[in-house]
Amino acid sequence: MNVRIAGTGSALPGKILTNAELEKLVDTSDEWITTRTGIKERRIAAEGEYTSTFAAEAGRKALEMAGVKPEEIDFIILSTVTPDFPFPSTACIVQDMLGAVNATAFDLSAACSGFIFGLSVAEKYLRSGSAQKILVIGSETLTRIVDWNDRNTCVLFGDGAGAVVLEASDGDHSLLSTHTFSNGSYWNLLYQPGSGSRNPATNSRTIDEKLLYVTMEGNEVFKHAVRAMEEASVKALESNGLLPSDIALLIPHQANRRIIDATAKRLGVAPDRLFTNLHCYGNTSSASIPIALDEANRQGVIKPDSKLLLVAFGGGFAYGSALINW
Ligand code: COA
Repeated sequence: MNVRIAGTGSALPGKILTNAELEKLVDTSDEWITTRTGIKERRIAAEGEYTSTFAAEAGRKALEMAGVKPEEIDFIILSTVTPDFPFPSTACIVQDMLGAVNATAFDLSAACSGFIFGLSVAEKYLRSGSAQKILVIGSETLTRIVDWNDRNTCVLFGDGAGAVVLEASDGDHSLLSTHTFSNGSYWNLLYQPGSGSRNPATNSRTIDEKLLYVTMEGNEVFKHAVRAMEEASVKALESNGLLPSDIALLIPHQANRRIIDATAKRLGVAPDRLFTNLHCYGNTSSASIPIALDEANRQGVIKPDSKLLLVAFGGGFAYGSALINW
């Protein structure tokens, strides 16, 4: 049984925060942010907007494109590091918002690689015949867990969601492979120290020591990201007997323009085969790939029967790739 992407969708907050506006918040400059990251602006969730808000909207659009009714969905797999609540899962809230009454819904945690991990889990359900239609969503409100006084991190992140409807299919237009990897020996290079069982949000120390914010060793993460994204991409190409020149479009996790360019260069994928939108949205963690995929799809950038490589890296470390024959 093959697995095809039947529809894509994305949703972003309306509120834009530009680099010029950030200059008023912290000691930074548009020039520094642009040259070091490629980011020009990001979207920020407004009061009353949550991870579920964007997830449901992206999911609705993906269902609409696929021509699939919410009650036909067997599973909702939602990746996020910024759920509405620690429990229940944001996927259950989205199930309720969409009216996907026949779905089993759960969240999946693999940081910025969560969407690829979600695709991989969904692929197994579909190939085994355990499900016919699955909604995979990546949704984040990272701006709720960044320290707006820390210029090292607050310039990098943004909010939003992307989604795909995957369905079992006999056709050739399919998800060819997914590969997932973890290296837990670096878990403390990129993480949120507080709000879990080690440093509960109920402990005043968690607030006093600013443990609720994203903590990152930027330089180290950068080096590992390039190597890991190359490894995951090579695995995808080799397992499908493909060369970098066979890839019509590379959609990498949108963390940093320099990480993306270095990865593409090491792989030998030409710059005109890269899809990026991080200048508009910053790093939206697990939402970045499905947002980019939806934009590329709706803009007609993806041609039928072309090969698409998705590759992600993030906290954990967790990383992975997916190869699609569109
Ligand atoms: N504005 C101005 N200066 C800044 C700044 C900002 N927003 N953020 C950091 N700086 C300063 C630092 O304080 C440092 O100053 P110092 O030399 O006086 O100490 C200087 O810029 C250089 O910092 P450094 O961390 O070496 O910069 P860098 O070139 O490594 O770029 C990142 C920093 C964060 C952009 C880069 O390391 C990166 O992108 N890492 C990966 C992060 C990421 O993508 N994480 C998510 C992965 S999923």
